Amino acid sequence: WLFAEYQSRDSQCTRVWIPDPDEVWRSAELTKDYKEGEKSLQLQLEDETIREYPIDVQSNQLPFLRNPDILVGENDLTALSYLHEPAVLHNLKVRFLESNHIYTYCGIVLVAINPYEQLPIYGQDVIYAYSGQNMGDMDPHIFAVAEEAYKQMARDEKNQSIIVSGESGAGKTVSAKYAMRYFATVSGSASDTNIEEKVLASSPIMEAIGNAKTTRNDNSSRFGKYIQIGFDKRYRIIGANMRTYLLEKSRVVFQADDERNYHIFYQLCAAASLPEFKELALTCAEDFFYTSQGGDTSIEGVDDAEDFEKTRQAFTLLGVRESHQINIFKIIASILHLGNVEIQAERDGESCSISPKDEHLSNFCQLLGVEHSQMEHWLCHRKLVTTSETYVKTMSLQQVVNARNALAKHIYAQLFGWIVGHVNKALHTSLKQHSFIGVLDIYGFETFDVNSFEQFCINYANEKLQQQFNLHVFKLEQEEYMKEQIPWTLIDFYDNQPCIDLIEAKLGILDLLDEECKVPKGTDQNWAQKLYDRHSGSQHFQKPRMSNTAFIVVHFADKVEYLSDSFLEKNRDTVYEEQINILKASKLPLVADLFHDGKDSAPAATTSSKISVRSARPPLKASNKEHKKTVGHQFRTSLHLLMETLNTTTPHYVRCIKPNDEKLPFRFDPKRAVQQLRACGVLETIRISAAGYPSRWAYHDFYNRYRVLVKKKELANTDKKAICKSVLESLIKDPDKFQFGRTKIFFRAGQVAYLEKLRADKFRAATITIQKTVRGWLQKVKYRRLKAATLTLQRYCRGHLARRLAEHMRRTRAAVVLQKQYRMRRAHQAYQRVRRATVVIQAFARGMFVRRIYHQVLREHKATIIQKHVRSWLARRCFQRLRGAAIVIQCSFRRLKAKRELKALKIEARSAEHLKRLNVGMENKVVQLQRKIDDQVGVLSSQPGGGAVGRLHGHLKAGSLVPCSCRVLMASGPGSCNALEGFRCLLRKERRRWSKGRGETC
Ligand SMILES: Nc1ncnc2c1ncn2[C@@H]1O[C@H](COP(=O)(O)OP(=O)(O)O)[C@@H](O)[C@H]1O
Ligand SMILES: [Mg+2]
Repeated sequence: WLFAEYQSRDSQCTRVWIPDPDEVWRSAELTKDYKEGEKSLQLQLEDETIREYPIDVQSNQLPFLRNPDILVGENDLTALSYLHEPAVLHNLKVRFLESNHIYTYCGIVLVAINPYEQLPIYGQDVIYAYSGQNMGDMDPHIFAVAEEAYKQMARDEKNQSIIVSGESGAGKTVSAKYAMRYFATVSGSASDTNIEEKVLASSPIMEAIGNAKTTRNDNSSRFGKYIQIGFDKRYRIIGANMRTYLLEKSRVVFQADDERNYHIFYQLCAAASLPEFKELALTCAEDFFYTSQGGDTSIEGVDDAEDFEKTRQAFTLLGVRESHQINIFKIIASILHLGNVEIQAERDGESCSISPKDEHLSNFCQLLGVEHSQMEHWLCHRKLVTTSETYVKTMSLQQVVNARNALAKHIYAQLFGWIVGHVNKALHTSLKQHSFIGVLDIYGFETFDVNSFEQFCINYANEKLQQQFNLHVFKLEQEEYMKEQIPWTLIDFYDNQPCIDLIEAKLGILDLLDEECKVPKGTDQNWAQKLYDRHSGSQHFQKPRMSNTAFIVVHFADKVEYLSDSFLEKNRDTVYEEQINILKASKLPLVADLFHDGKDSAPAATTSSKISVRSARPPLKASNKEHKKTVGHQFRTSLHLLMETLNTTTPHYVRCIKPNDEKLPFRFDPKRAVQQLRACGVLETIRISAAGYPSRWAYHDFYNRYRVLVKKKELANTDKKAICKSVLESLIKDPDKFQFGRTKIFFRAGQVAYLEKLRADKFRAATITIQKTVRGWLQKVKYRRLKAATLTLQRYCRGHLARRLAEHMRRTRAAVVLQKQYRMRRAHQAYQRVRRATVVIQAFARGMFVRRIYHQVLREHKATIIQKHVRSWLARRCFQRLRGAAIVIQCSFRRLKAKRELKALKIEARSAEHLKRLNVGMENKVVQLQRKIDDQVGVLSSQPGGGAVGRLHGHLKAGSLVPCSCRVLMASGPGSCNALEGFRCLLRKERRRWSKGRGETC
């Protein structure tokens, strides 16, 4: 661990914080020692860039020193040795971003950074874990603060208060709710009335009527509240009481872009369709002027109808009867209708009218049970009473609208007060209250581009609270010093009293404002002028150069420029008496009750809701002093009352910080955080701490930590206190830098860091010596081991290498043989393949050539056959022609010869003898022929084509061919062509035809 710790300290040279426009503060390291009188510092930033940091020689203001790393992430900021803005910011940032710790102590203040994410640190088990524990024993938590308050209430028998402050959206209301939940859980209720449930149930009601969506917070409380939770002797909850401050009434009639009116209006509109709300004649929120000016009437992730149910349940739980609830909702609905009343300007521009048929005005009057005609008249007219006479005056459109808006605001404020009164009644107990814990949830310091009366009051309240805080811290410091018997030298701390006096003292800003309000023709500008005349000498008051209507107040947190426009109007906050009188005469008891003279609905609670009624009578004749109180006056009174209460209690402070404006979880914008830390006084606490002796060490703890700085022979002394004293005196030369208390040593800022540095240096020197020796020894041992190991390794390696070479050679040879065989085989196979292919190709080629020759021969052969047939056909034709011609010639010749013969024969034939001889010869020949034919027929009929021969034979037998044969025989004559030859010829023809039919070749 020694090495680990001091290794990390190697890099710890002098580190500082330098201002940065983006990150506010940036860490840097000194690269060169600084010598007094030098004009700049050589710095290296965290991103390794080198920068020269100029030093103002006159002020000799060196940059802030950075704390040792050991102190970063501390639970308590005051434990930091260097206490300044960058250290605080860095510590908060590291805790928030790296460890997701949203709570950090800063002395007695709990700093809570809004995580914008639900964290699992608020369960019942966590409450019980914190219950009974000491504040320092557990991680910082709102429950630890609540437990501390609860414990101190029991231990010191003193009332307590938890003051939660911060910007809008920083988490005040959530923190206050957690604190109340803590009390409700750990204390339990004294009776069966479940009072703690009622205390918690007041939240949804107050949120419905007093919270609204703003650009900064979807559920922004538009009023301040102080809830006192009462406990009995056994520290069980018995009741509660609530005081409210400065309800933002202007929101009822006006909302900026993207903002909403109070939630209850939208909740009621979302439930308008319920049968019990038919008579309210409501529609959706977009339809009403007072709920639609911001644009979007819904909030992401919020169901107004559902929330309305919760509000109603809370009302029921707090004992508000259904009938009363309906009346409350009637009044709220009536305000919406009032906003929609159409006012028409008359031509003269001096008067206005409202149509008698105006639905919204009828609804308004009906819901509030007031007379329509009266209301219609007094909305557009007012009464003026002078000493001598009374007369009714018309009003311009702007005046009427203003008066109407003032009436709406007034009704809402009265109702708000009435509800607070009722909640208080429900939480009131008849049991004797032994002590209480108050939780104050109040808006923090505010500054906008344009600041008006509201911001002025808020900042005034914060100025008072800061003063109370300073005095308290101061007092605590003093007590601690006394306890430790340390001489109390006055610590300079920021005193808010001059600024408070500027605001509230006689002839202060508020006083002059009230004066101006009393002047009948008083204007904002006159008032501003009076302020300039009266206060320009004050160091907390300034007049802006460019304006005659604005003024600047130098508050503890910042300079704020206020625009005096409408201060008078807002301070007067008047409504016309005639309108109020109509409401007083309402048939609805609740409405009459709200506006009844002197019967303020909740006198203690609604200090903010008292209002002056613009009487028609001249100011001097004012009878009711109560009504003359201005808002500023009331606020001042309520603030005094609050301060009185707080001063009688032990305060606990919670400062809520909004880490970014985008509402993103665990995103830290240093600029915004620093603004708020300044505004909420955390840095002032730090300053007070730093001005005195901020670091404190018990003697025992100091001895344990810094024993290393003590010389050996001094350690022999057994008195630890004496050792501490002697060592400190030798180490820190300036005796003002520390003080010895009874049980603790007190150090000025930076001394612990100095001691830490000495301790670190000592450790570093010792570490370096130890490291030097150990490293030398380690290196020697390592070298010997390495040498032996190297030799062994070499031996093995070389043997291994030789073996590997032999093996390699063997393998190479084998590979060559294998390659040879393989290559041979491959070549052989290739040759075989080529050979086979060649043979195949040759076979095919030869076949092809032979086929070509064959086809040629075949073609020639066929041509020969064709030629043969053609030639034979030609020869035959020629022959037949020739034969025909020969026959013709023969015939002619034979006829000639026959004629001659005939003539001779005729002559011979005339002899009978001759004829007889001829016949006998003929008959023999025929018989011979017949026989020959029969033989022939017998041979043929056994051959193919025998059928035809048979048929021929039949014919011959039948004698049908006889004439032909006779003709042939006669024509051919003996010896030239006989009948047999003719038959043969016939037979050949017949056979050829038969063969053709059978497809045979000839
Ligand atoms: N401790 C917390 N854990 C988680 N969310 C928180 C916490 N504190 C505040 N928030 C968130 O911030 C929002 C604003 O807080 P709220 O208490 O209403 O602000 P403020 O009262 O200061 O205007 C809450 O609605 C919630 O979402
Ligand atoms: Mg709030």
